[in-house]
Amino acid sequence: MTTRVLSVDPDHPDPAVIAEAAEALRAGKLVAFPTETVYGLGANALDPAAVARIFEAKGRPATDPLIVHLAHIGQLSLCASHVPPAARKLALAFWAGPLTIILPKKLTVPDSVTAGLPSVALRVPSHRVARALLEMAGVPVAAPSANRFSRPSPTTVAHVLADLAGRVDIVLDGGPTDIGLESTIVDFTVDPPVMRRPGGLTLEQIRTVVPEVVAVAQQGSEHVAQVAPGQLTRHYAPQAELTLYEGAVDRVVHRLAADTRTLTAQGARVGILAPEDDLLALAPDLAGLASAGRVEVRPYGSRSDPARAARELFAALRALDATGVTHILATSIGTDGLGLAVQDRLSRAAEGRVRRV
Ligand code: TXA
Ligand code: MG
Repeated sequence: MTTRVLSVDPDHPDPAVIAEAAEALRAGKLVAFPTETVYGLGANALDPAAVARIFEAKGRPATDPLIVHLAHIGQLSLCASHVPPAARKLALAFWAGPLTIILPKKLTVPDSVTAGLPSVALRVPSHRVARALLEMAGVPVAAPSANRFSRPSPTTVAHVLADLAGRVDIVLDGGPTDIGLESTIVDFTVDPPVMRRPGGLTLEQIRTVVPEVVAVAQQGSEHVAQVAPGQLTRHYAPQAELTLYEGAVDRVVHRLAADTRTLTAQGARVGILAPEDDLLALAPDLAGLASAGRVEVRPYGSRSDPARAARELFAALRALDATGVTHILATSIGTDGLGLAVQDRLSRAAEGRVRRV
């Protein structure tokens, strides 16, 4: 298959280009498109053959359910059999935006979309290209992040093509995404509602509208339908072995510098993924090693600007991994606000290698 890349102005998408992509979706094809969080790999959610192509293109296990994207809140009843008042309230407050809600599904939603679960994940994205596409397509669009299974989510078209060139019919290029991390998922099929994945909408924001939402630690296996997202061990995992350092900044920096020296002395090539403030603190320790070419460094945002940290995280992780380092040592930005989602993605990439110092 040849992949066609169509450029669109993110603020004023050309209706002719959107119409072409919408027609492709209706014809059962795959269209990657920008949302405000990350790029999605879309197919008509009501067409099981089209949905099957998503799993094939991504190499995604059939046990991992998809998020269904809607043009507006009025389409909720197309897919959900029941909408509890708290879910309605949260959707009204934060749609269109980086929020996904899980509700009991209608029979019209194919089982392949939900991995056989009786619930469906629904979201109304705010990105103008996504909204125009969903409106013109006129069907709900199932769209996981547009990466190969277990790779970081794509925030640019270059990332999408690195993973999916030749596996998707059309890619709409609307430039880099704004939030950079996936949507926050809140499950309303349980009481109290549970945040299944931290993301672009913070828990603090959610609780201003529905205070009873709780956050839970996630666990999972590859053999049962994923009732919480991103549980599979290889999720977000880079080629290099990533270790996440957590704790007070000075101790983290000290320990990370010491481990970098040990690893490089053993012949490893080390990558450091950290906010700018941490890199500044590390600089005196690493000066010699970096100039000797044994350490690659990539900043992602700063502790004082969590939104920029979120926006830059996945691109920095991909870039560092592409240098061929054998080990990545990473620090996160705390757990307030967007920090929680950043920490979640890094700890998944670490696959349990989290060093609390
Ligand atoms: O920001 C986003 O949410 C992006 C953009 C493209 O909208 N999409 C995205 O999709 O991150 P994906 O497939 O990479 O992650 C969706 C997660 C899956 O890991 C899945 O486990 C969870 O949502 N999910 C989907 N349906 C579910 C359900 N019925 N119950 C529990 N979790 C569900
Ligand atoms: Mg994903």
